[in-house]
Amino acid sequence: MAEKSGNNAIFRYEKDADNVVTLTLDMVGRGANVINKEFSLGFANVLARLADEETLAGVIITSGKKLFLAGADLESLLAEFAPDVLFADAEKYKRGLRMLETLGKPVVAALNGTALGGGLELALACHYRVAINNPKSKFGFPEVTLGLLPGGGGITRMVRMLGLQEAFPYLTEGTQLGPQQALDLGIVDALAEDVDDMMMQARAWIAANPAPKKPWDQARFRIPGGNPSTPRIAQMLAIAPAMMRKKTRGNYPAPEAILAAAVEGAQVDFETAGRIESRYFAKIASGQVSKNMITALWFNLNAINKGGSRPQKIPPQETQKVGVLGAGLMGHGIAYASAYAGLEVVLKDLTLEAAQTGKARIEALLQGQVKRGRLTAEKMQTIADGITCTGSAADLQGCDLIIEAVFEDRELKARVTAEAEAQMLPEGVFASNTSTLPITGLAKAAARPEQFIGLHFFSPVHKMKLVEIIVGEQTSDATLAKAFDYVRKIRKVPIVVNDSRGFYTSRVFITYVYEGMALLAEGQVPQAIEAAGMQAGMPVGPLAVSDEVSLGLMAHIREQTRKDLAAGGNSGEGTEGQQPPDHPANRVLDLMLDRGRMGRAQGGGFYEYPTGQAKRLWPELITLFSKEGAEKLDQQEMIDRLLFMQALESVRCLEEGVLHSVADANIGSIFGWGFAPFHGGTLQFINGYGLPAFVERSRRLARAYGDRFDPPPLLLEKAAYGGRFE
Ligand code: NAI
Repeated sequence: MAEKSGNNAIFRYEKDADNVVTLTLDMVGRGANVINKEFSLGFANVLARLADEETLAGVIITSGKKLFLAGADLESLLAEFAPDVLFADAEKYKRGLRMLETLGKPVVAALNGTALGGGLELALACHYRVAINNPKSKFGFPEVTLGLLPGGGGITRMVRMLGLQEAFPYLTEGTQLGPQQALDLGIVDALAEDVDDMMMQARAWIAANPAPKKPWDQARFRIPGGNPSTPRIAQMLAIAPAMMRKKTRGNYPAPEAILAAAVEGAQVDFETAGRIESRYFAKIASGQVSKNMITALWFNLNAINKGGSRPQKIPPQETQKVGVLGAGLMGHGIAYASAYAGLEVVLKDLTLEAAQTGKARIEALLQGQVKRGRLTAEKMQTIADGITCTGSAADLQGCDLIIEAVFEDRELKARVTAEAEAQMLPEGVFASNTSTLPITGLAKAAARPEQFIGLHFFSPVHKMKLVEIIVGEQTSDATLAKAFDYVRKIRKVPIVVNDSRGFYTSRVFITYVYEGMALLAEGQVPQAIEAAGMQAGMPVGPLAVSDEVSLGLMAHIREQTRKDLAAGGNSGEGTEGQQPPDHPANRVLDLMLDRGRMGRAQGGGFYEYPTGQAKRLWPELITLFSKEGAEKLDQQEMIDRLLFMQALESVRCLEEGVLHSVADANIGSIFGWGFAPFHGGTLQFINGYGLPAFVERSRRLARAYGDRFDPPPLLLEKAAYGGRFE
């Protein structure tokens, strides 16, 4: 029975007969508890009340929501640019936590659910943590994945609990742990079966530990594993910044700041360490990179996953039975993802044996999941049993979604479409995984073109989260809704684009590749071009990625485009997006093909691939493309060209209606081809740069390198009126 109650809109405050106060975090009017201004007020209020208690045996902090505490409210964080305000906020939160920690009475975190970031920081300030053993609960510091750092004592306490070396990965990589892993690491002290067990354990601990003190509040405390001058640690620290730099290339300030805050903080007392941490937090949270990453990877991603690009009026559409045509590289991946999500799958190839070869690859992927402990052998069997292999179209009967992933050939695709459509349920949807052929044209082979759509998966399908949904001229809203819901069902991220050559992702990605080749055509040093790509934040240099895509394929697409254009582009297929015929990259492509340098799969392209050795740039590139007296461009100039080209082409996609939303542009670019996440995607990059400055820079690039850099009207208009891409 509660003796005394002092509820506010954030915490319920209940004191029981044993003088134990239970603080239940339950923010009124919100689905989850987050740290924001109201939280701060409510927290200050209960702390003051605790300080006034004359008979206090201990405190239990728990939550009335599914999650314990999700962390800082990102909306307010995104809107705050002043380092002083951010510093003051961090310090204030820390003071509250420190007050709990030095209360002189036991404080227990009863973790009924997930505690991330600021939520885990609250838990770490408690003297004891007991968590319900629910595999859905997660514990960790994901801040770094949004360009942030833990600023509520997370770095300071983790270092003092685990030691510098042990704590680093959990702070700089954003790893989220399940309850058992958190227990093993020591950031959770005990696991409980359910709420009652958790509360019972919390009370028992309070009764047994009436006056706990944190190790760092005891005399002669030493950081486990040693401080920065301990030889073993000093040795590690001597190379840590260089290793980190190799990964971040200087583009991600958060992990570097975490490292600095941890090391500097380890040399001073607890309070000073906390202040150092707050200073770094203020610097990072007020910086552009965190704003970019929060915008894209939190707000844009959530908007997409919540169905921002889905027709709102259509009720949820459930897919039951998926037919996959082609059990090759893409087809087996699509079948795997579908079966994994619990859907019934018919996997069809030319012959039963070919389909079975695809299924064997799926089983290997599943086995990998079992090995990693992510799947039980039993579940694996159920998933595998859900896939039926066949060589006959008749087995597609009853499918309500069919996805074709046969060779990239119009006639073949037309044939399989007609054949499969005849077996599909009348209201079913037929999707093509084509990477280059416009959907409206392919839909001509369908008896029901309004039920035809593009579902463009990325390779390797089991790893790549993005699916680009392509809406053809006749595709209906109901078809789009069904495709969208299917993509969400298989836990991938759908962006929705209109039909156009190369759609959105291939169209913009290829501008990166072509710009790299243009640099080569101008006589820039290949190594420097590749380095510029990596420094720009792209996962692979433009020449290396050309080899992966295959120069032969690029030439084939170019040829196809030329033919379509010569035919008047009258096949209902968009003619936008192809590289202009006078693009300087064309000469490079022609010369390379001339020399038989088609790409990696064909034995070599811009690189050589000696067996058993690392790949290396083909030495003849220098003689083939070097130009007498060519001016060696500054790295930044090359980086800008590679990034600006992609951003400008994305604006054109938005302008032409190929893209419907900025969120789709940003997420499509990061998840589709790895466009610099620290810039927040292709359009957020322009926001971060500042529109007027971006226009100015584009114009200068256009004057120097060609009109492909001309700022499109939509950009000019937004820049003129102080707009942004939102
Ligand atoms: P693949 O060559 O690995 O697989 C194609 C499969 O289709 C083969 O197993 C073949 O036997 C089968 N097939 C041929 N005719 C068939 C028929 N009549 N019925 C059933 N199966 C038949 O090719 P991949 O790479 O999987 O590409 C498939 C499609 O996906 C192409 O349209 C491609 O453009 C597209 N795509 C490919 C990507 C990639 O990275 N490879 C990325 C995105 C899309």
